[in-house]
Amino acid sequence: MVKIRRITSKDPLYVQECALREDVLLRPIGYDMERFKREFPGLEERMEHFVAVLNHHAAERVVGCAALIPGEPAAGAGRITQMAVNLQRQGEGIGRRLVVAVESRAFGELGLRELVCHAPVTAVPFFESIGWVMEPEVFQEAGVPHRRAVIRCPSEEEAA
Ligand SMILES: CC(C)(COP(=O)(O)OP(=O)(O)OC[C@H]1O[C@@H](n2cnc3c(N)ncnc32)[C@H](O)[C@@H]1OP(=O)(O)O)[C@@H](O)C(=O)NCCC(=O)NCCS
Repeated sequence: MVKIRRITSKDPLYVQECALREDVLLRPIGYDMERFKREFPGLEERMEHFVAVLNHHAAERVVGCAALIPGEPAAGAGRITQMAVNLQRQGEGIGRRLVVAVESRAFGELGLRELVCHAPVTAVPFFESIGWVMEPEVFQEAGVPHRRAVIRCPSEEEAA
């Protein structure tokens, strides 16, 4: 069974999180964790880390991850970044559960009003199917076309 957990960089599972990010997100665009940390100093420390953990023969295996950066792009908002699901486990609902966990942390516990994500265009159907709003503009980030995905805190939506 897959469980979603929030961890710190001191957790033994953090090493697996980094390996998954390198496999799915970073190496395809010519990065590894070392280069990521060098080019975005301090970012890793500001992230809250979420992992999807599979219990496999009494060992824990990270099969998905996502990070929340509170206070970006502005105070009262947050950004989801570095979200990845192991290639063999995509399409099983793990990505959705990771985003639900981040949303509940951001809106329920941190009191943020809005979450944004720079989504590669290949992930647009995913964000649409989990209820995020896609902005139409396409922009390049790390040489990959992206669109901005946004979701507002449900209570803010009701008040609007
Ligand atoms: C994007 C990603 C995180 C989605 O995770 P996932 O576990 O595969 O997604 P889920 O299984 O939770 O899918 C949730 C919904 O999105 C839909 N969906 C996911 N990917 C889709 C795609 N490429 N096309 C159409 N629908 C898609 C699913 O069908 C599902 O809809 P449903 O609940 O109505 O059936 C994963 O595919 C991934 O790691 N991709 C590569 C890295 C990446 O693009 N990361 C995003 C960085 S922001």
